Amino acid sequence: MNILVTGGAGFIGSHTIIELYKAGHTVVVVDNLSNSSKESLRRVAELAGVEKIPFYPVDIRDREGLNKVMESHTFDACIHFAGLKAVGESVEKPWEYYENNINGTLVLLDVMRKHNCKNIIFSSSATVYGDPAVIPITEECPKGHCTNPYGQTKSMLEEILMDIQKADPEWNVVLLRYFNPIGAHPSGRIGEDPQGIPNNLMPYITQVAVGKRAELGVFGNDYDTPDGTGVRDFIHVVDLATGHVKALQAIQRQCGISIYNLGTGHGYSVLDLVKAFQSATGITIPYSIKARRPGDIATCYSNPAKAERELGWKAQNGINEMCRDAWNWQRQNPEGYKA
Ligand code: NAD
Ligand code: UD1
Repeated sequence: MNILVTGGAGFIGSHTIIELYKAGHTVVVVDNLSNSSKESLRRVAELAGVEKIPFYPVDIRDREGLNKVMESHTFDACIHFAGLKAVGESVEKPWEYYENNINGTLVLLDVMRKHNCKNIIFSSSATVYGDPAVIPITEECPKGHCTNPYGQTKSMLEEILMDIQKADPEWNVVLLRYFNPIGAHPSGRIGEDPQGIPNNLMPYITQVAVGKRAELGVFGNDYDTPDGTGVRDFIHVVDLATGHVKALQAIQRQCGISIYNLGTGHGYSVLDLVKAFQSATGITIPYSIKARRPGDIATCYSNPAKAERELGWKAQNGINEMCRDAWNWQRQNPEGYKA
């Protein structure tokens, strides 16, 4: 299939493109580079063994720009990663988040339907479950209250996509609810490149390991969890990437609307991850306990059985590989793509 990949220069998109090529697909990338650099695509080309990844520096809110891309190529489906994703920033700048994520997706969908491409895989998040009603979380678990505008955009976009599919059954929509993607390509050539102080746990740990930050702050040790720290379902980004390739099968069998959790089904606490990182790398991570972070929940992990049953997809990498590869990327690229 020929796939339009929005946000393809970013963390998850770049890893997914490699897996798409491996499976025999081709891609065209659209990205405004607001949170990424062209260097990632240069390295992706290297890893995929192609000369160049077809790329347009277009914003998904730019109707004319997108139109030109869609006039120049024929697409079988779109994998839609483009969006702003920093939870804290979304609380400060709600308008920017709603405008970029929601308006951007509306423009994309409109241009897609004008070009008769009505197949889309959307990057959603476990955040739509809010404080989950059941653990492990199945896709039937009711959606919950999102504590921030970023999460709201994911939840609202899920509703928008479902309404559009209901009104026009020619659409096939796959909603992938990611749990906590970490790690990097095993080559260490591509990985997560957060700007400024990392918000998420693993990039913070790797920056402590590489000497850029003095110690990790652990946000709360009084949760109702085995060691009191938050429990999450960390998933290797390469496994997440292969999940998108498998999700194309749902598109091919004209699924209408399908929702899948992409997680491992295992919950690890913050301190479990610190310990796993130390044993995978031999590096000690100093940490101190801080106050809880507003909006955080105690426990969040998936039941990923539906994706295995219907797509034949299952995460292959364990916590050790996730830590090893995250470190391998950080160690080789202490300044991310800037170096
Ligand atoms: P990322 O920031 O690395 O990638 C997103 C890409 O989209 C960036 O390259 C950015 O430049 C681009 N982009 C943003 N707005 C755009 C616009 N208006 N037009 C064109 N390009 C635009 O983030 P990621 O971690 O790779 O996440 C990819 C998707 O998955 C996002 O939608 C994110 O919300 C979602 N998601 C991520 C996580 C996670 O933990 N990383 C978890 C759940 C869901
Ligand atoms: C966060 C977002 C979620 C988003 C996901 C993407 C919030 C409330 N949720 O999930 O919407 O989809 O990122 O990756 O921000 N922690 C520390 N110290 C740190 C950083 C994190 O102790 O410096 C803890 C957190 O309190 C949490 C766990 O580590 O218990 C994981 O945090 P993080 O990596 O930010 O992911 P989530 O909060 O699960």
